[in-house]
Amino acid sequence: MASKETRSRVAVVGSLNMDLVARAPRLPHPGETLAGRTFAQVAGGKGGNQAVAAARLGAQVSMLGCVGADANGAQLRAGLEAEGIDCAALETGREATGVALIVVDDASQNAIVIVAGSNGEVTPETIARHEAVLAAADVVICQLETPLATVHAALAAARRLGKTVILNPAPATGPLPAEWLPLIDYLIPNELEAATLTGLPVGSPEEAATAAAVLRAAGARNVLVTLGPRGVQAALEGAAPVLYDAPKVEAVDTTAAGDTFIGGFAAQLAEGVDVDAAIRFAQRAAALSVTRAGAQPSIPTRAELGG
Ligand code: RIB
Repeated sequence: MASKETRSRVAVVGSLNMDLVARAPRLPHPGETLAGRTFAQVAGGKGGNQAVAAARLGAQVSMLGCVGADANGAQLRAGLEAEGIDCAALETGREATGVALIVVDDASQNAIVIVAGSNGEVTPETIARHEAVLAAADVVICQLETPLATVHAALAAARRLGKTVILNPAPATGPLPAEWLPLIDYLIPNELEAATLTGLPVGSPEEAATAAAVLRAAGARNVLVTLGPRGVQAALEGAAPVLYDAPKVEAVDTTAAGDTFIGGFAAQLAEGVDVDAAIRFAQRAAALSVTRAGAQPSIPTRAELGG
């Protein structure tokens, strides 16, 4: 791997959560109390996970976000710093650090409720204060666990600065504002998010290809729909739609698999690797992550992928 000074830069604008994770035989029904088997408290949040993935997979990373002035915030910050992630643009707010309540079932599926807390304090002004962090990056990643006005400000600033812009539209609650799509180089939803963004069914790779084409027609330059064990349906500029098969693995916990894919993909793009190879590399990283429990603890290093 290149030295820290020469590694390419990825800036992540996004959320940090303390994940409170219960493992149970299945996900609970409404009104039901279910006995869980284990409990763990682990570092998570889509922004933090993507930052850790990009760092472990080869990039020099800066994190732009906000934690609370509490023990969770201190632990999340220390975890990022231990990965060598630059936290100069990670602010400390007035709200409690964000949390995610996660249940993982025996089929390794999860259900997640997030409470934004200090993630809600990342504002367009925060982006303006730390624009130098975006200016120093090659690739900028955003998700939707910070306020939408903030995400728009970050996408617009990154586009104006000529960066490669990735949006992971998670969690998605409806279509993206039309003016956002031309700001995005790589829009990376999972199948649920692709369905929410387009209003179309996305239950198969063919339907994912249709949704991706709709999102490209609306202005996103490239769209990658992650389909878990069925792979990644790609709609890339100037190319025919293609399904990248997923490596076959025994899944233990799928939490942060998408985040690992996105961080790994961004690290490769920042290095100048071509998109096809970047997708395959990121798939290998995500596949390894689902064989291990937890969000950030499950994310592999570049050495584990063979350097
Ligand atoms: O993508 C997984 C993440 O979603 C978890 O770590 C949790 O914090 C939620 O943000």
